[in-house]
This record gives sequence, structure tokens and C-alpha cells, in this order.
Amino acid sequence: MPTHNELDPLGDELRSARSAKPCVLVIFGATGDLTKRKLVPSLMGLSKDGLLPSGFAVVGFARRPWTDDSFRKVCAEGVETFGRQDTPEHFEQHRDAFTYLQSNFHNPEGYAELREKLKLIDNARGTAGNRIFYLATPPSAYSSILENLANAGLSTEEDGSFARVIVEKPFGRDLGTATALNNQVSAAFHERQVFRIDHYLGKETVQNILALRFANGIFEPLWNEKFVDHVQITVAESIGVGSRAGYFEESGVIRDMIQNHLMQVMTLVAMEPPAAMTADAVRDEKVKVLKAIRTFDPAQVEEATVRAQYTSGSFGGKDVNGYRQEEGVPEDSVTETYAAVRLQIDNWRWSRTPFFLRSAKRMPRRVTEVAIQFKQPPHMLFDGAQAKQPNMLLLRIQPDEGVAMRFGAKVPGPDVRIRDVRMDFRYGTAFGGETVDSYERLLLDAMLGDGTLFARADEVEEAWRIVDSIIAGWKLSSKLPEGYVAGTWGPKQADILLGVGRTWRRP
Ligand code: BG6
Repeated sequence: MPTHNELDPLGDELRSARSAKPCVLVIFGATGDLTKRKLVPSLMGLSKDGLLPSGFAVVGFARRPWTDDSFRKVCAEGVETFGRQDTPEHFEQHRDAFTYLQSNFHNPEGYAELREKLKLIDNARGTAGNRIFYLATPPSAYSSILENLANAGLSTEEDGSFARVIVEKPFGRDLGTATALNNQVSAAFHERQVFRIDHYLGKETVQNILALRFANGIFEPLWNEKFVDHVQITVAESIGVGSRAGYFEESGVIRDMIQNHLMQVMTLVAMEPPAAMTADAVRDEKVKVLKAIRTFDPAQVEEATVRAQYTSGSFGGKDVNGYRQEEGVPEDSVTETYAAVRLQIDNWRWSRTPFFLRSAKRMPRRVTEVAIQFKQPPHMLFDGAQAKQPNMLLLRIQPDEGVAMRFGAKVPGPDVRIRDVRMDFRYGTAFGGETVDSYERLLLDAMLGDGTLFARADEVEEAWRIVDSIIAGWKLSSKLPEGYVAGTWGPKQADILLGVGRTWRRP
């Protein structure tokens, strides 16, 4: 049997022509889960694909009294458990490049020590003064780290070297805190040095939204309010809140998912074609979409949103707790684990096309998709026999990555009967290959200095403007979140949100 690559000459195109310069990655909060689960396994994935620069090192910077050896041991375990096939061998090759520095995030001495350590690494590994600082700590430590990096001269780029900072979410918890954080970041780094991570932008299928729209001529003429009835963006998760109740109680789905991942996906679906595929041209267009989204008056919020909490139910044959029974969640919690919102973009392209965003925990399955629902034909020829559903273009982000088109076809036979059928493109079948974690792409882009797939300061702030207005409405409302049984598609009220003749997809 030929492999996918033998069948398909595109195999060669999957290899990147881009190569990053030697550099050191300093991870603040390196003892946390993210380093072990995502960052180190992704770095070793890059190594496997030949994309890690020849001179490369990692410095773990955190409070715990770890040593180089204990840090390396945890990293090795991380690669073993979460890495792609064969990546543990790559960790063995890079093992010596991983070192640890114990320090409090507030202590200037730690940063002086870091500066000296980086110089030694430059000499030993040829990393040429290039540094990337990764903020993987709780957000409360960000301001200290940024200030100390600047004071230690570590945010300055000298003699052609680069200094960059990657900031993990959550980026603020409202517009005020996000703006304050942006100000702290910009006091230490220029915007071109800053990479705000939204891991959804690193997903291949999310990037494919732009390819589908702008590398093809047939979709764009239909991509507007004349032809599109509405757009549904769904990020459904089957997991509950797990061990993250402390964090989740403070954020809810609206802050945890909608403000960032769903709104990022929405901007890619709704934006105008950029003048070029450069970081600023793309992000300028995304910001224009966000600026055109109507802010809610508190009184409108109830009619334009639905929030709900999962109650106990059964999942995969097992009984599962309701949200309020989860460990660490107060019995009277009003935090939403389900949110659906109707957003209106006030511009020429979308003036009459609502965008519905929905995200929740404890749905029947894990699925992320964008459904572009087209309008009914202007005149029905097939009396009483037309397809039940109007045309739909479905972008399946995860799992079963692909694109499907739904249309009506004649059922074979003497009668004129129309039935919905699908044309289906599947990534796995067309391209094969291993699934690569979004952090691989994003870490590589940060090394290359390409900010296209990172959120710019103004994007984050505009998204908070919209989300803040929703949260303000919820706070004023006397209504409590609805309930939905764990393992179901959410509360009935969400159907009303869509309006007459529209239904939520149940993928
Ligand atoms: C994170 C959220 O940003 O995204 C989590 O904090 C959520 O609550 C996760 O589970 C979902 O990411 P993915 O890639 O699994 O869809």
C-alpha cells in the first residue's frame, strides 16, 4: 500500500522553508503544568521536524527549589507522556540544553543572575543574545516579571539580537485589567516584541479559514449578508471543570473561551481580505471586525445571550456531578459553564447576518466547528419536496478536521424528491501526517518573530469591550443561569436565541 506521501506529492510542501535563529527560551513558572504538557513536548516536536535552531537552550525560572536535574527529569516525563512519537529521543539529545534557575519573581537578584547565565549560554551554545521570555506564571506575577526584565536590561535588543516576550492567557479579566497589562507590557517591550498566545490560532484548521476564503475564488462572492443567513461558531467540550474550579469560578465560559478563542475564530471568518499576509495587515482587518461589533446595553443582554450551568447527569455510562457539586465550587455558584451569544457586526458585509457563538463544558462530545448557513433559494421550484435544510458550509476545526458542504440532491427514482447530501473534505485523508500541537507552530512563529497568529494589544482590548458589556448585563439581571443536564446540548432557551426557522447544530 502506498503511504499518503507517496500518493500525494504535497508531502514535500509540508516541510517548512522557514528556519529560526539560535535563541534561548526562558520559561517563567517552568515548574507548572504548561511546561511539562505543552511547551517542552512541542519544542521536541520542532526538533523532530528539523525546525529547532541549531543553537538552542531552555532556562526554567521558578520559585521551587529544583535543580537542573530535577527540571530535566520532569521535562523528560512530559515528553514521554505528551510528546509525539520518537520525541523522547530528541529530548535526550537536547537534555544538557535545559537548565534551571530558582528565584522569586519579585527579586531583582534573580534577574541579574539570569542575565549572567544567559551570557554564559550565549558563549557555550552560540545563541547570540537572542532571548524569548515565556510568561507561564499566574497572571499576578506578570507585572513583576516585566518590570524586572526591563530593569535588568533584558528587554533591550542589542547588536541585531532579539528579545521577545510570550504572554499566556488569561490576558486580563476585563477591559480595565487588560489595558493595565498592555501598559505594563509596553513599558518593557515594543509591540513587535510581544506575542500574546491564543492557542486556537495555532490550530491548522483555524489557519485554514483564511486559506479557504482567500486562496479560492468561489466562496468570497457568497461570503456576505446577501447570501449568508447566519453563522454558528461552536466550541463544545465533553470535559467538566475538573480540578480547575478555582480558576473557572472566576472566569466562566465567557472569559475562558468566548473572549479569546471564539472571538478570534469569528474575526477570521468575518474579516475583509488583508492587503498582504503580514502580521499587521491581518491583524488590522481583525481589529476592524471587532470594532464593528455592537456593544450591548445592559438591558439588551438578556435577549441576546443565554448562560447556563451543567447539572448532574450521566456521561459515557457513568454518573457525573453537576457543576455546583464539583470540588471547589460553591453551592450557590452562578458561574456559567455554557454561554451562547448573538453578536451583530455593523458593517456593509455583515449588517443583516447575526453571528452566534456558543461554548460549554459537559456537552455530549468535544467538537469545534464553524457553520456558515446560507439563505434559502429565492424561489422554490420543487414544491413540497425541497431539501429540508438550506445550504451550509461546515468548517470542522476539531476533531475530524475538514470542510463539508451540504446541498440538496435528487433522490434516484421516478419522483422528484430532494434530500440533503454532503461533499466532504478530510484533512487526514488528503494530507496524512501526524497531528501537530498548536504550541509547536506558535513557538516556532515566536522564534521567527512572526506575530500573525498572536493577538495584538488592540484586538484583546476590543474583545474585552464586547465581553464586558455582556458581563455587566448579567450582573444587573435578576435571572440566574439556566440548568442543562451534563451530556446534553444545553438549555432550551438557547433555541429561542437563534430566532424563528433556525436551529443549533447538534454535531
Ligand atoms: C483553554 C481553556 O484555553 O482551552 C480550557 O482555558 C479549555 O478551559 C481549552 O478546555 C480548550 O482547548 P482545546 O484546544 O482542547 O479545544
